[in-house]
Amino acid sequence: MKRIGAVLLLLTAFLWSAGELTPAQQSAPAGQSSQTAKRDHWWNNAVIYEIYPRSFQDSNGDGIGDLNGITSRLGYLQKLGVDAIWLTPIYPSPQVDFGYDISNYEAVDSQYGTMADFDRLVSEAKKRNIGIIMDLVLNHTSDKDPWFEESASSRTNPKADWYMWRDAKMVDGHREPPNNWISDFGGSAWQWDPARQQYYYHEFYVQQPDLNWNNPQVRGAMYNVARFWIHRGVAGFRLDAITALFEDPQDRDEPYVLGPDGKPSIDAYGDKEVTDIYTNNLPEVHDVLRELRAATNAAGGGRVVLIGETYLNSIADLHKMYGAHNDELQLPMDMQVGFINRFDVGLFRERIDEAETGLNGDEPLFVFDNHDNPRWDRYQTDAAGAPTFGYGPHHDDIGRVIATVLFASRDTAMMYYGDEIGMVTTPPTRKEDVRDPIGIKGWPKEKGRDGERTPMQWNAGPDAGFSSDDAKTWLPIPSSYKTVNVAAEEREPDSMLHWYQQIIALKRNDPALHEGEETMLNRSDDHVLSWLRKDANGEAVIVACNFTDQPQTVRFNLSALGVSGTGLKTLLETPGAPAPQSIDAVALGPFGVYIGQVRSK
Ligand code: NOJ
Repeated sequence: MKRIGAVLLLLTAFLWSAGELTPAQQSAPAGQSSQTAKRDHWWNNAVIYEIYPRSFQDSNGDGIGDLNGITSRLGYLQKLGVDAIWLTPIYPSPQVDFGYDISNYEAVDSQYGTMADFDRLVSEAKKRNIGIIMDLVLNHTSDKDPWFEESASSRTNPKADWYMWRDAKMVDGHREPPNNWISDFGGSAWQWDPARQQYYYHEFYVQQPDLNWNNPQVRGAMYNVARFWIHRGVAGFRLDAITALFEDPQDRDEPYVLGPDGKPSIDAYGDKEVTDIYTNNLPEVHDVLRELRAATNAAGGGRVVLIGETYLNSIADLHKMYGAHNDELQLPMDMQVGFINRFDVGLFRERIDEAETGLNGDEPLFVFDNHDNPRWDRYQTDAAGAPTFGYGPHHDDIGRVIATVLFASRDTAMMYYGDEIGMVTTPPTRKEDVRDPIGIKGWPKEKGRDGERTPMQWNAGPDAGFSSDDAKTWLPIPSSYKTVNVAAEEREPDSMLHWYQQIIALKRNDPALHEGEETMLNRSDDHVLSWLRKDANGEAVIVACNFTDQPQTVRFNLSALGVSGTGLKTLLETPGAPAPQSIDAVALGPFGVYIGQVRSK
C-alpha cells in the first residue's frame, strides 16, 4: 500500500492501529550527555508553523494569498510563539498540484510576489527570531520545467537520463507500461511520451515526472538549489516525498493488496491497490540525505535544518532517517503519533514512548495537521466511533487535548495555520466546486484536499479579513468565520487561540516543559493519558489529558520517580475546571486537560 498519498492516512492510521504493523523493538536511550548535545540547536523544542501561502493572507485583492500578506502577519505569529514558518512551495509552477509541480527552482511565482518580497519576508521574520523554511521538492519537477522539456526532446540530449524513461513492454503486439506501478494520485504511474517513444514514471500527477536520482548531475543540480536558498537566508528545508526518491532498479511489479475476498482491493480511483515495497523507502535515499546534509551544513554553517516528509511504518525506519552518525535529517516527521486518528490512550502512550526511547536521544518532530489531511476536528467521532468533521459538542475540548500532546511533549512541534483558532475541515459538497485534481478524479470517494486548505479566518469582515476587498477567493471562506476568527478569539479569554498562546509560552519558558525528560504515568489507565516532565534542576510538571467524554479523576504516585512533593500549582487547565490541591485527586471533565507543577504542600 502506498503511504505517500497522505490523503489516505485516515485509513492507513486505522490499519496501524489495528495491528497490521509491528512496532519495532525499542533501543536503549543514549546517555544524558549525548542527548543534551543532540538537543542544542535552534530547532530543538521549537514550534514550526506551516503556512499554505495561497490561503494565509492576500495583500493585493486577487483572492490568492501572497508573500507580502505573510509578512504583514509576522507580528501575529511572533505573539503566538512561533520559531519558524514552513512555506509550502512558492516557486513558479503551472499549479497543477498547487506548487508541488515546480518549473523553476530558483525564482518566486508571480502569484505570490517577487524575489524582493521574499527577501523582505526573510529579513522581517529574522527581526522577530522567526526562520523561513522552504519546501524542497526533490522527487519530481513539473513537466513544464526546462529540465524535463529538454529530457523529453530526444533520447540523446544532455539531460536524456535526468528522468525515469523506460521502453514499453510489448504484450501480444500491444504497447503496455513497464510494470503495474500506480500513481498515488490515480491511474498507471507510467505516461507514454510520443516524442521519445518511451514511458516516463510519475509517482504523482502525469504533470509531475520523477527525477532520476541515480544520475549524479541531478543530485548536483538539486544541491545547488539548496545552496541558492541558503544564501538568501533560509533557515531550512522541508523535503517533500523524500522517501520516494528511488525505485526498484529491476522495475519489479508491486504485489497487490488483497481484500477480504482474496482479490486485489480497489482504491478510490478505481485502481487495483499495490504495496510500495519497490517504490518507497529504498535504502539509496540515505546516500542522498547524507550528501544533501553535507551540502547544507557547509553552506549554512550548521544552522540549516532538514525536515523530512516521512510517512514511515515503524520507529526503526524513522530512526534511520536521522542517519547512523546523525548525518542525515535533523527532523524527520513522526507521523505515528499525530495520525493515530482516534483517542486510544494505549496507542498514544506506546507511540510517544517509542519516540522517547527508539530514537537514541534524537528530537522527535510531532505533527497532527497539514495541507494533505483533514484538520484535527477528525478526532471527533460519532456514536459508532467514525470520524466526524465540523463543530461537535466537544470540539474545543478535543482541540485542547491535541494541542497539549503536541506542545507539552518533549518534541519539536509542527502546527498548521488555523489550528490555533480551531478551524475545521470544510470539504466541497459539489464536484463542480473541487479545485484539487485528486478530488475531481476520485469524487465522491476521494473529495481531495480543499477542505483543509480554506482561507485563514482573521475576522468577521468581508472575506474573513483574508483578502483586502470582497474578492472571489480561490477557495470559499467557510461560513464559520463569523464566530471562529482571530479577532473574536483574541477578545475571548477562554478561546482556542488563548490556549495555544498559553501552552506554547509554557513550552518556550517553563524549564521542565521546555526540555525536561518525559516519563509516562499511570500506564494501565485506559482513559487518561498522563506524563511527567522533569528538568535537570528537579522542577516537575504533570500533564493529564482525559481521552473520554466522561469525567475522570486520577491520582499520581511520584515518589519512585524521585519527586517528593504532593501539592500542585496549576500552570494551565481546561477553562472552568476546579484547580486540584494535590496529586492525590486530579479531576478532569470530559476531554479535560490539567498541567501543574508539583510542589511541597
Ligand atoms: C506531498 C505534498 O505534501 C503534497 O501536497 C503533494 O501533492 C505531494 N507530496 C506531491 O508533491
